[in-house]
Amino acid sequence: MSKFKSSKELSVLRKKICDERAKQKKTIVRVCNGTGCRASGAQKVVEAFKKEATKQGVDFEIRPTGCQGLCEKGPLVIVEPLDVFYQKVDPFDAAKIIDLTINRGKVIDRLQVVDPVTGELAVKEEEISFYGKQQRVVLRNCGHIDPTNIEDYIAIGGYEALVKILNDMTPEEVIEEVKKSNLRGRGGAGFPTGRKWEGGRRTKSDVKYIVCNGDEGDPGAFMDRSVLEGDPHSVIEGMIIGAYALGNCKEGFIYVRQEYPLAVENLTVAINQARELGLLGENILGSGFDFDLEIKRGAGAFICGESTALMFSIEGKRGMPRTTPPRSVGKGLWDKPTVLNNVETFANIPPIIIKGADWFPSIGTKGSPGTKIFALTGKVKNTGLIEVPMGITIREIVYDIGGGILGDKEFKAVQTGGPSGGCLPKEYLDLPVDFDSLTEVGAMMGSGGLVVMDESNCMVEIARYFLSFTQVESCGKCPPCRIGTYEMLEILNRIVEGKGEEGDIERLESIGKHIQKTALCGLGKSAPNPVLSTIKYFRDEYEAHIRDKYCPAGQCTALGHYQINEEDCLLCGLCKEVCAYDAITEERNRFYIDLSYCQKCGACIGVCPTGCVVRQFERKSTPTGKQEVAT
Ligand SMILES: Cc1cc2nc3c(=O)[nH]c(=O)nc-3n(C[C@H](O)[C@H](O)[C@H](O)COP(=O)(O)O)c2cc1C
Ligand code: SF4
Ligand code: SF4
Ligand code: SF4
Ligand code: FES
Repeated sequence: MSKFKSSKELSVLRKKICDERAKQKKTIVRVCNGTGCRASGAQKVVEAFKKEATKQGVDFEIRPTGCQGLCEKGPLVIVEPLDVFYQKVDPFDAAKIIDLTINRGKVIDRLQVVDPVTGELAVKEEEISFYGKQQRVVLRNCGHIDPTNIEDYIAIGGYEALVKILNDMTPEEVIEEVKKSNLRGRGGAGFPTGRKWEGGRRTKSDVKYIVCNGDEGDPGAFMDRSVLEGDPHSVIEGMIIGAYALGNCKEGFIYVRQEYPLAVENLTVAINQARELGLLGENILGSGFDFDLEIKRGAGAFICGESTALMFSIEGKRGMPRTTPPRSVGKGLWDKPTVLNNVETFANIPPIIIKGADWFPSIGTKGSPGTKIFALTGKVKNTGLIEVPMGITIREIVYDIGGGILGDKEFKAVQTGGPSGGCLPKEYLDLPVDFDSLTEVGAMMGSGGLVVMDESNCMVEIARYFLSFTQVESCGKCPPCRIGTYEMLEILNRIVEGKGEEGDIERLESIGKHIQKTALCGLGKSAPNPVLSTIKYFRDEYEAHIRDKYCPAGQCTALGHYQINEEDCLLCGLCKEVCAYDAITEERNRFYIDLSYCQKCGACIGVCPTGCVVRQFERKSTPTGKQEVAT
């Protein structure tokens, strides 16, 4: 294909692709090839389909796609036009799917999803409750198109928004439209995108830059990775539109972490294809507008997701935040005006331009229009990538989409906003999920991690875990964060080891609030959140650890001891064999654990075939005077 010299040529190509596809009416087998499904062998499934298609002489399209959402049940396969949805597909299943489903229209029960909410087999995606309350705006193409084939994107209206702005809108009108939509940045803070772009446009300079933040350093998060892997053109298109709106912006950067090889690969392919067609580079679609993109790879430091640190990193300097002002829209990359947005923010732009600014606020809430993608993880039955309208409640996410708590245990808390977010208890199950509601109760939207916890999660340990992450990732530039997070972590380490002291809770609160007020950047300002929110909502758990040396959730190893329940013991001796500390002895046909030797490593629990080695937690004194035991 040669470069388009005008937007008309793009429309001609789109029509040609659509006509050909309509004429062929091919069956399409969409095999998820996102990182999650690849880890479960999706690439072998694609190969098996190719081989079997040749062997059985059946003509159909095998389309490797990006994430389809229900990653935990991957590899996922959807057969169109029947829209049959298959989970945990093995390469050996390819032959049967071709023979039964493609050739004879039959559904294979064994590969269907059993819906955890209804308990019934689901044939199509829309019958699976996981998808029921989702609304796909950013993920509109993810899981449907082959991200490495620009024709797939063009066929479903890709680059139409670009054509619209180049032909019918001035840069000011683009900014007005984005402002009117009230799109708020999805990178965490929810800053209005239109206002940011306006700030960038107003700054006078011959050179300006636009940057996409795809660093995504939160542990467990994979929203941005999935968009970049599954629909890179929507981000590229959003960035070209942003560059046009800024003016004098001929160069942009997409910052992606090195640990996202598939995202980098698919982005590289997409950028090259866009360049070949004249959608990037000089004189885009014959409009006289020049803009090109470059991928910059991050080395994996969490702090490099912070906008100023990210820009230093692109410049080849050490990724450390700087004080603001000056804001980046005035002085950013190489001191030039720079607009930086998150992956999801950019991917929202093309539909806003096409459907209009009035359409966008019809989804979500007044203050937080649109949708949000979350990586739903933790103790729920369905984990994966979800996109929901803002304003949905936590209960709907956990029970309707997530299918409820694993093992039908009690919901205890939800952690939103990644390692610097807050933990909310069950009293907030009906809280609407939007930027402002979450902030009001001490949590935050962040970039979209959502971890669900049940009764077996110890909230002190959870806070300690998240703080240990931010503490290690602190760049060390300012003392409140460098020293304060270290001190807080030391206190938490003592508490979970049974060495907590009276006054520790107050010390944590005091240091935490001090860091929030005085740290230089968002990492330090938000690092105490998990600790302060768990103290606020689960103070009794801290008190139990400190006063009674007791972990109510039965998780903090140092506070419990190991014992063998004789009744179920088979006398197999496996526990004694595995114990590296000679803590288990056999005496008169009984196995004992000598607590003075036991190092609480847990190896004996792992090997015992009957589960009669248990960890026992005893509370010496309780508010009711009764003895409490957790195992
Ligand atoms: C420690 C730290 C890490 C961050 N990591 C990310 C990230 O991985 N991705 C992201 O988009 N924003 C991240 N942010 C927020 C960015 O600084 C910035 O606000 C955001 O990318 C702006 O984009 P938006 O306006 O589209 O939300 C981080 C902020 C801090 C303080
Ligand atoms: S708050 Fe922490 S991460 Fe941010 S500049 Fe200070 S030391 Fe570095
Ligand atoms: S917990 Fe470890 S040290 Fe203690 S008895 Fe079991 S295997 Fe031995
Ligand atoms: S492994 Fe379990 S069943 Fe076997 S001797 Fe030890 S406690 Fe008894
Ligand atoms: S990676 Fe396949 S469903 Fe998410």
